[in-house]
Amino acid sequence: MVDWEALVAAAAEVRARAHAPYSRFAVGAALLMEDGSIVTGCNVENRSYGLSLCAERNAVTAAVGRGLKKPLAVVVVTSSSPPSAPCGMCRETLRELVDDVPILLVNPEGERLERTLAELLPDSFVFPPPA
Ligand code: THU
Repeated sequence: MVDWEALVAAAAEVRARAHAPYSRFAVGAALLMEDGSIVTGCNVENRSYGLSLCAERNAVTAAVGRGLKKPLAVVVVTSSSPPSAPCGMCRETLRELVDDVPILLVNPEGERLERTLAELLPDSFVFPPPA
């Protein structure tokens, strides 16, 4: 049973702490982990633009640093309409931990899109290749 509202609130809260002075596009991500905890991340940009970090990958790395490797649910909050989905890099990063996971995309206007990682990342990279 996923408490989606708690995840949305956590993603919105961390989004407010995004460091995005260049794009002015703040992103907040919240992961429900296997122990029931919520781990969050926001995007952190850099004056050397290519060093910028996405919210979803920051959440994943924070979770792994806590010894948590199985996200059960993901929420991403942006200001886009329709709400933005994770970029390709973030999809592959999530895929490293789970084959599939529900991902709820949200904006502050209340628009919500339900996706799954499997829908967003079909035929993902597999390593090592099947024998
Ligand atoms: N961004 C994310 O945080 N997650 C994504 O999946 C795509 C993009 C951030 C990176 C950058 O700080 C800003 O959004 C604009 O691209």
